[in-house]
Amino acid sequence: MSDPVSLLRFTSVAPLRAAVAAWRRADERVVLVPTMGALHAGHLALMARARSLGRRVVASIFVNPTQFGPNEDFSRYPRDTETDLALLAEAGVDAAYLPEVSGMYPEHFSTRIEVGGLTEGLCGAYRPGHFSGVATVVTKLLNQVQPDCALFGEKDYQQLLVIRRAVRDLDLPVEIQGVPTLREADGLALSSRNRYLAPEERVRAPRLHAVLSEIAAGLAAGGSAGPLVEGGRAALAAAGFEPVQYLEVRDAETLAPVEHATRPARVLAAAYLGRTRLIDNVAVG
Ligand code: PAF
Repeated sequence: MSDPVSLLRFTSVAPLRAAVAAWRRADERVVLVPTMGALHAGHLALMARARSLGRRVVASIFVNPTQFGPNEDFSRYPRDTETDLALLAEAGVDAAYLPEVSGMYPEHFSTRIEVGGLTEGLCGAYRPGHFSGVATVVTKLLNQVQPDCALFGEKDYQQLLVIRRAVRDLDLPVEIQGVPTLREADGLALSSRNRYLAPEERVRAPRLHAVLSEIAAGLAAGGSAGPLVEGGRAALAAAGFEPVQYLEVRDAETLAPVEHATRPARVLAAAYLGRTRLIDNVAVG
């Protein structure tokens, strides 16, 4: 465990860039882990992976207003910066970057990154503007920090593909790596939003992962998506998920709909348990 006082803190770009530039001059590879805070073991797995990939790790904490819709949980999104900073220090992170909203989006801010195609279905269909908000803030974070590599969890699978695409299309000089989802022992994907679940909802929540895994196993055994998804929807409804926004089988790279798993595929879902929106996905095969 590293000494907690060794965690540098930055709230503005110039001193952060100076620190990163000095590291890079010393040939130290810099890895960025962007987060919205409310850190849990899944984030800490990202930090551990980052440490294994580079000499220096920067974690950003920024609850990005532009990726939340008007009726979403921006104002109630959990914020606990002091605990987050202590966790980052314990995880051996070198620097925490905590930009202010006014610094990230100064007056008359008027540029947005729109990634076509990949953002049209799944979460994009239910969260208009969400991926544009994500792509814009991630592009800014990458430009601000200028890391060699940035890590994103596979739990937000569509987000990972959207970021990869934006980085490729805009020739940003950074490597994007996805990190497998960390799960509770009962299969529930770790998420900052799990803390919204009432105790009896928490008991039912792992059914989402179970249903996705059953569909993935059915596809791997040669089944077709249509009937498997229909059965999965019924199972989710029986477990109290309402509404199920989507439950779909998609190509793992293009997100095109898939009926048979002849290429790498992913089963993805978003569904509400009470007021909490859960998303998850699993690989086929
Ligand atoms: O996945 C998240 O926590 C956020 O969408 C991200 C990538 C930090 C951008 O705000």
